[in-house]
Amino acid sequence: MSRRILVTSALPNANGAIHIGHLLEHIQTDIWVRYQRLCGHKVVYVCADDTHGTATMLKAEEEGTTPEILIERIRQEHIADFRRFYVEHDNFHSTHSEENRVLSELIYERLHKRGLIFTTKVEQLFDAERNMFLADRFVKGECPRCGADDQYGDNCEVCGATYDATDLLNPRSLISGTAPQLRESEHYFFDLPQYSEMLKDWTTSGTIAPQVANKLSEWLDSGLKAWDISRDAPYFGFLIPGTTDKYFYVWMDAPIGYMASLQNYIDKHNEVTFDEFWAPQNESEVHHFIGKDIINFHALFWPAVLDGAGFRKPTRIHTHGFITVDGRKMSKSRGTSIDAATYLDFLEPEYLRYYYATKLNGTVDDADINFDDFVQRVNSDLVGKVVNIASRCAGFITKQFDGKLAAALDDEELWSRFMQAQDAIGEWYEAGDTSKAMREICALADLANQYIAQNPPWVLIKEEGKRDRAQSVCSMGINLFRVLMIFLKPVLPKLAADSEAFLRVKPLIWSDVPTPLLNHEIAKYEPLFTRLERKTIDKLVAASVVDEKVVEKVAEEESATAATDHISIDDFNKVELRVAKIIKAEPVAGADKLLQLTLDVGDHQRCVFAGIKAAYDPASLIGRLTVVVANLAPRKMRFGISEGMVLAAGPGAAEIFLLSPDEGAQPGMIVS
Ligand code: MSP
Ligand code: ZN
Repeated sequence: MSRRILVTSALPNANGAIHIGHLLEHIQTDIWVRYQRLCGHKVVYVCADDTHGTATMLKAEEEGTTPEILIERIRQEHIADFRRFYVEHDNFHSTHSEENRVLSELIYERLHKRGLIFTTKVEQLFDAERNMFLADRFVKGECPRCGADDQYGDNCEVCGATYDATDLLNPRSLISGTAPQLRESEHYFFDLPQYSEMLKDWTTSGTIAPQVANKLSEWLDSGLKAWDISRDAPYFGFLIPGTTDKYFYVWMDAPIGYMASLQNYIDKHNEVTFDEFWAPQNESEVHHFIGKDIINFHALFWPAVLDGAGFRKPTRIHTHGFITVDGRKMSKSRGTSIDAATYLDFLEPEYLRYYYATKLNGTVDDADINFDDFVQRVNSDLVGKVVNIASRCAGFITKQFDGKLAAALDDEELWSRFMQAQDAIGEWYEAGDTSKAMREICALADLANQYIAQNPPWVLIKEEGKRDRAQSVCSMGINLFRVLMIFLKPVLPKLAADSEAFLRVKPLIWSDVPTPLLNHEIAKYEPLFTRLERKTIDKLVAASVVDEKVVEKVAEEESATAATDHISIDDFNKVELRVAKIIKAEPVAGADKLLQLTLDVGDHQRCVFAGIKAAYDPASLIGRLTVVVANLAPRKMRFGISEGMVLAAGPGAAEIFLLSPDEGAQPGMIVS
């Protein structure tokens, strides 16, 4: 029976290039889609760019353009990259589209009507200079648990603590550099906990891999929280109906983008209907392919939202792990964070498609790329085993037999071994275990090569009365090759198409497997696949290196130019420097570099924290004069508020020299 299947890959963010990590997902999806089509099922494969959020807004600003222009440029680049890897999306739309706005509003209204939306005041960090609330990734500060500096607003990379951005010590906005304030604002929430029971059932009913379901059950058992679906202006996104300054959080409208892309496809092609996929309880299937980092959005929020809005839930969420290179995370400085476009400057797309197929096994295990292994797999499996069968047999058929294949199969037993493999290979494709499928295909190719070696046509052709046998063996070889090409077609569409031209056959389908080509004329053989050279990969890696040192140097040079730029006397006059007398100096519990100074600045006293403990014995400072920046905005530190800054010279640690005026200066005198 023919199935109707809607398939999606996660929507890439519209703020950067497609890289080999995205490609893992889209190639995995594309292989699955091509396999289904090969079996005659009706598949609509849609994707889009995920465009909304603060990051897009800021990037457009940085480039001096509008978010709309920026995202359309990136979308075109993404489309071109995927196409060149033979990823066959039926439609690649955008979440910033009319279809998506309409659907997001519709879903929101339905949730609202059913009482699943409520509002609550939320305290958040606010950048007063930029007049905006700060998402976690736009704030850094000291970890509230271990005190490590330079940590983002959601978790600490040093000690692993997770926390709210409002818990950070000495937070600073990454947008303006200023210290954020706490501000209250009204947020819209989706009442997720109402769906706890439904989700417990749904996640354990074969929709996601057991490994992933276990992970989710930890969340489900510890109790779900309501989901914050709004963000305050300024934000690049869709306004929430009935508000003037509240936008849908990007993760609210992103999965709706799957539906919007389908709608846009329907408007263009009119072959399927929206309801045949999304109406509750229909016969069609919906399959999402995603990475393990976004599982909660797809297996908790999304099914709940769909259910609440009266749509069907996904059939399956296929979840993959991350790409690592030689066991490590992709890295720009090591040249292992490779963009799709850079890859294509050096290598064939099908090398990567095949290598990923050998790696993917349908689990969330990370997929490790090892370049020696990559070269080995491509050369030995594809060139050495599969294509070799055709290249060894084709010449004889063309030169000695006018391109004509024999009338019967030479080795029925070997043929039936190939036929028996088909179902298992199909099941592995269906389950996403292409690794097993590729292993079986290679084992079959080994058998074919052994058969040819045991019945060498180049010997038979010279022997008295063995000419026909030579034709039979070569024909058998070509037929085995044909079967292998059908098995490999989802992974290697270009090689398959070239092979079809060589075999002079219509596009092959899965059910063609049992029907051999007999008495059939084939075309002259042209090399189908070229070997991969290790040194080409080295070149690719070298071209992908983004040298952190170079980046740092550029930054240094930029700041050096900035430093030589002049400031006006007015700029200088903005800084209020005053003579101050240190009247108290004490160490600060828990801070090894700081001294707390109490300063007499003429008309009043202030408390200032200074990182000079390694250089000065506190007692020796008492009574001494120094210079303080008196109009510096007070800074909230972990130990208290610092009301100004004393001036000192030197590289730091024990080499610090506190500035002081000549004798006779009085506390409070202005320095100018
Ligand atoms: N925009 C969201 C998805 C919204 S879906 C409604 C997003 N975008 S992303 O660009 O960061 O990632 C897109 C997909 O690529 C995700 O499924 C993610 O897991 C996958 N990958 C991104 N980097 C990856 C690797 N290094 N390795 C494997 N997959 C990775 O998340
Ligand atoms: Zn920490």
